[in-house]
Amino acid sequence: MNMPSVERYTAAVITISDSASNGEREDKSGDTLEGLLQKAGFSITDREVVPDERQVIAGTLTRCTASHNIACIFTTGGTGVGPRDVTPEAAKDVIERRMPGMEEAMRHESLRQTPFAMLSRQVVGVAKDTLIVTLPGSEKAVRECFAVIQPVLKHVVDLLAGETAHKSSNN
Ligand code: MTE
Repeated sequence: MNMPSVERYTAAVITISDSASNGEREDKSGDTLEGLLQKAGFSITDREVVPDERQVIAGTLTRCTASHNIACIFTTGGTGVGPRDVTPEAAKDVIERRMPGMEEAMRHESLRQTPFAMLSRQVVGVAKDTLIVTLPGSEKAVRECFAVIQPVLKHVVDLLAGETAHKSSNN
């Protein structure tokens, strides 16, 4: 039987915010994300807070994709249209294969909660064998978006690890 290794479901949480990175505000959305991931069965192996700088974000993502103990990377913040919102551009610098279905699902479900969901340019994709998910910056948005993709996360990680058996919504 092909048992998943204990440390297969690992995640890095990266908060992207000028004010959180310089200590002006608490990293609440990062804490929320960490809690949600742990509840979903993921071990948090890295936690970072970085400013809204495209090269810094892309560099952090690239470093995480090279790490063997990070199966997925979740970012929070910087997905909107403010002058400093560059998370999607940085993620696209690193992502090799976009996953538009996960992007669309989060936006679609989020629109039921708030019309402001259409303002997020969040992207999802794969670089090397690591899943990269960019989420908006508010705790509320993190909770709502995470709830949408949580049911498929472990299966995505299994697929990226080379376990390609099909899964239905019943198992
Ligand atoms: N998505 C969900 N599910 N719930 C929300 O409250 N807020 C939106 C949007 N996505 C929101 C959401 C708002 S107000 C903005 S401005 C954008 O995400 C971008 O947020 P960010 O710049 O903090 O990443």
